[in-house]
Amino acid sequence: MNDDSLQEPVTQAGRELDVHLIHSEKMASIGQLAAGVAHEINNPVGYVFSNLKIMAKYIRDMQTIIDTIDTSASLDEVKAVKRNIDYDYIKQDLEDMLGESVYGVETIIGIVSALKDFSYDDGDEFKEVDLYKGLNSTLSVVNNEIKYKAEVVKQFSDLPLVECIPSKINQVFMNLLVNAAHAIEDSGVITLTTGVDGDRVWFEVADDGVGMDEATLSRIYEPFFTTKPPGQGTGLGLAICYSILKKHDATLEVVSEPGVGTTFKIYLPIKRKTSVT
Ligand SMILES: Nc1ncnc2c1ncn2[C@@H]1O[C@H](COP(=O)(O)OP(=O)(O)OP(=O)(O)O)[C@@H](O)[C@H]1O
Ligand SMILES: [Mg+2]
Repeated sequence: MNDDSLQEPVTQAGRELDVHLIHSEKMASIGQLAAGVAHEINNPVGYVFSNLKIMAKYIRDMQTIIDTIDTSASLDEVKAVKRNIDYDYIKQDLEDMLGESVYGVETIIGIVSALKDFSYDDGDEFKEVDLYKGLNSTLSVVNNEIKYKAEVVKQFSDLPLVECIPSKINQVFMNLLVNAAHAIEDSGVITLTTGVDGDRVWFEVADDGVGMDEATLSRIYEPFFTTKPPGQGTGLGLAICYSILKKHDATLEVVSEPGVGTTFKIYLPIKRKTSVT
């Protein structure tokens, strides 16, 4: 077991490099997000589109029945057309398809609004926010990376509003969640636990994935350190988390054991220590 409290990353990085890294990470995340969001939206768009085509046909059939009222000599003739078209089936199917399509569009609206929350550029402004709002929108955004591999268990307690830079904290959530998902090979559990400890809140991301050995653990905050195959990881995720959390006077602890899993725990001050107000 290892307990590695937040340390200076093993790097020559000064403030300027930190800023540069945050930008590179943003670029890397945008690609990752774009792929995930495209995948998430593709499914509802697919069935709403195919429903629309079938519903268009049903509507034409119904128009035929209604138009027959004007052209037919008797009510029996209208009834025959109605039966022929299988009105009862169409009526039910139309209702099901409308319900399904509304659900699909709602799903898309949810993804888009999560993305807006997530990407809202709030500059470097500290604000009092509900951490769960950011966490849930981040979860919807990275859902695609997680859902096939891991069950997400939430053990949330009541948290006060926390003074932080929300978009940056979302970025930390995202990196930890994606790392946890990547650490799980086939299927596993990611447990998110929160709590309050004096004047700080804490937030834990635990996975039952591959874990890390000593050698890996000692380098995780190093920019560009990655154990992922070329092209799959920039190795910037945790370096960025480090720099964001440092700005928040937060601390980050990690406990990991090969073959058992990894737990990252963040302690975040509820109020800014260096508050200017
Ligand atoms: N939850 C975890 N379980 C096991 N190993 C982890 C976990 N989180 C991080 N690591 C290790 O730390 C390394 C560095 O993580 P970091 O997030 O900085 O970069 P990355 O995930 O490799 O790439 P990127 O985040 O840029 O896509 C990872 O390559 C992996 O070896
Ligand atoms: Mg990562």
